[in-house]
Formats: sequence, C-alpha cells, structure tokens
Amino acid sequence: MTDPSRPDGEQLVVVLVGLPARGKSYVASKIGRFLRWLGWTTRVFNVGAYRRARLGAHHRESFFAPDNAEGLRQREAMADAALEDLIQWMHAGGAVGIYDATNTTKRRRSRIRERLSQAGLHMLFIESICEDPALVLANIRQTKLRSPDYAGVPVDEAVADFSKRVAHYERAYEPLGDGETSYVKFIDVGRRIEVEGVSGYLPSKILFFLMNTHLEGRPVWLTRHGESEFNVSGQIGGDAVLSESGRRYPAALAEFVRLRVGKGRTPVVFTSTLKRTRQTAGTMRTVAWRLLNEIDAGICDGMTYDEIRTTFPDEFAARQADKLRYRYPSGESYVDVIGRLEPVLVEIERQRQPVLVVAHQAVIRLLYGYFKGVERHECPHLEIPLHTVIELRVGPYGLDEERFCLIEPSTDD
Ligand code: F6P
Repeated sequence: MTDPSRPDGEQLVVVLVGLPARGKSYVASKIGRFLRWLGWTTRVFNVGAYRRARLGAHHRESFFAPDNAEGLRQREAMADAALEDLIQWMHAGGAVGIYDATNTTKRRRSRIRERLSQAGLHMLFIESICEDPALVLANIRQTKLRSPDYAGVPVDEAVADFSKRVAHYERAYEPLGDGETSYVKFIDVGRRIEVEGVSGYLPSKILFFLMNTHLEGRPVWLTRHGESEFNVSGQIGGDAVLSESGRRYPAALAEFVRLRVGKGRTPVVFTSTLKRTRQTAGTMRTVAWRLLNEIDAGICDGMTYDEIRTTFPDEFAARQADKLRYRYPSGESYVDVIGRLEPVLVEIERQRQPVLVVAHQAVIRLLYGYFKGVERHECPHLEIPLHTVIELRVGPYGLDEERFCLIEPSTDD
C-alpha cells in the first residue's frame, strides 16, 4: 500500500550551515522528526558525533583553530566520513539525509556540492544564523555545556573555551551567498527567513515547515473528548454525544485550562467537527477542523470490535497485522490520517499561545507521536486514556510531558 504523503523516489540531502551554537542541530532534528512522521526515511548525520566517537570528546578550542593544520585535517576527515556514510545510506534507499555540520567556508561547501552531484543527489542548504547574543549564550549554556565535550569541566571554564571555539569559526566564516544555491537562511530562529532558488516538493515542504516554527515555549494540551455513548457501548466511529460520565469532563477541562493557561495568555482551542469534541470544549472559543475527525472506519463504522471480528474476520486480522497501514474498506488507515493532519500540525506549531486540541483516540495518538518522535508503526498502539489531558511543554531545548487525569471515566475504551 502506498503512502499518499510520500511521492515515490524523491530524495534530498539537507546540508546545514552555521557557526557553533546557532541551533543547527535543533533545526536538523526538528525537520527530521517532521519528515519521519510524514513517512520519509530520514536520518541526521552529525559530524560532531563522528568526531567524539572516533577521536574522543577531549578537544579544546585550539583544535578548532583555522591555522591548526593537524586539527583541520582531522576535522575534515570526520566531515568526509559522515558525508560518505550519508551518501551510502541514501544510495541504499534513504529519502532525506540531513548533514549536520558547520560547513562555514565556501571551499567546504563547494566540495560537498561536487561530491553530492557526483553521487547523483539533490541538495538544499539551510543556514542557521543567530544575531542575538543572548540567544547564543542561552544555547551554549543549555546544550553545549551538557555535551560530552565538557563532561567534568567547570561551567565558566567550559563557556570560555567554547566561546573561543566559536571565535575560531567566526574568523573563517563565509555566509551563504554569491552565486551559491539553493538555500534557506533561517535567521534568529525564524524571525526572518531568506530564500534562494528553492523549488521542488521536498524543499518547499521543508521551507513551509520552517516558516511556521518558532522557539517560544508554550504548552500544547492534547485530550480526547469526554466519554461518549459509543465509548460506553463499545462501538467505534459515529457521531455520538457524551455519556453521563463524559458530561462531567467539559467543566473539569475548562477549569484545568483556566488554572494552567498563565497570565495574559489566551488558549487556542481546536476541536473536530463531531458532537463529542464540541460538547467537550463547552463554552470555550474554538476552531473546529474536519481534519481532526476520528479515523473513518468505513464499513465498520458503528460496530463493536467483536462484531467486526465475527462479520469481517479477514479485515480484523489484516488490521491486527499492520495497524498503521491497514485501511478500512471505504474508510481510512492511520497513514491516511497522518496525511490529513499535516496542516493542523503546522498550525499547532505556528501558535505562540497555549494550544488545546480536543480530538479522538487515533488522532491524538498521531499528534502525540509527532511531538514525542515516536516511530510511526508504534503510534497506533499508544495509550491515550479518556478524561486525561496530556500536557506537552514545547520549548527550545526539548519537550516535557505531564498527564492529568481529571475525572475517572466509566469505561476504559
Ligand atoms: O473507540 C474509540 C475510537 O475513537 C473509535 O471511534 C476509533 O475507531 C478507535 O477509537 C481508534 O482506535 P483503534 O485504532 O485502536 O481502533
């Protein structure tokens, strides 16, 4: 079964460019997570990780000086090793290889371009530029000091050493431009974006995604609707209203949001167009998306799992064998749902206010799977209980999760 969100055969190498501590690895992992969720085999090749694995994590700033010939030779060897592995991986069928290294000189970039073109691979440069010294310092403190490069080194010493390392790169740094193409310059984590010669399906998708991401911390709350009458009877799909127990959830949810939203913030509330999510959002101001409706169970809509097993045993078995790809006759598969959720996901990413999504079991599994970087085939099996808000605190340095069970449902469907 083909995946509608992935045109066959398209491949791309994304080459990061930028000084140390400019958020390159953040951009690399974010793009990687998004594309993987959409079904592209994506892998990040980080040159720093090659250096640490092959040469050890003991290098101090002088190793990175542009006039340190031996340091330069070793760093180039690591960069070449990572690039060759990336090429081999792409030739073995990888769709998107992300080459995460500084690549700050024209000479280095033209070598990469030549090598990739010789290997028959298309590429896109993404340069991460940060002109805000406070952001750079915060990035150094949050990420670099936790790196194995500085294990056991006092903080002040590590900051001083890393700042010298950055200064070495700054001396040799040549930003993208002057006939180089195609590229996206991602400036101050998305406050400004410059684009040169970007075209094609994957590069445009990446650009669109980058244009809608930012680093501002805010919670994303994911919840299923309150227990519905179909949950009680064990039927799937449909457009049932909330059960007696489910009708207690809207007030509990509204109170939860009121208490946690934070001063001066207004939550953005997304629901599906089905009665049970709209009822759950109660009097909150909402935007209803049809794209957030539950997986369409086609000819099985309104049946219980037992009825499906006895009426359509082959369908039941096929779904058990491959729950991600199985498509209900006249309905949808989880892969189909991922395809339709993409615009909602980008919209959630774009928001700077807290976001509450009130949707359904399959949909919440997939959105949660995206944020947590869960493998696609594991998403359909994730545990998403009723009457529970999953709070994801999305920020520049990772994601924290907390779950709040607001009231006990009468069923565990
Ligand atoms: O049972 C509730 C429900 O939301 C159904 O409407 C839907 O078909 C089902 O969950 C999705 O879960 P699963 O993929 O595990 O069948």
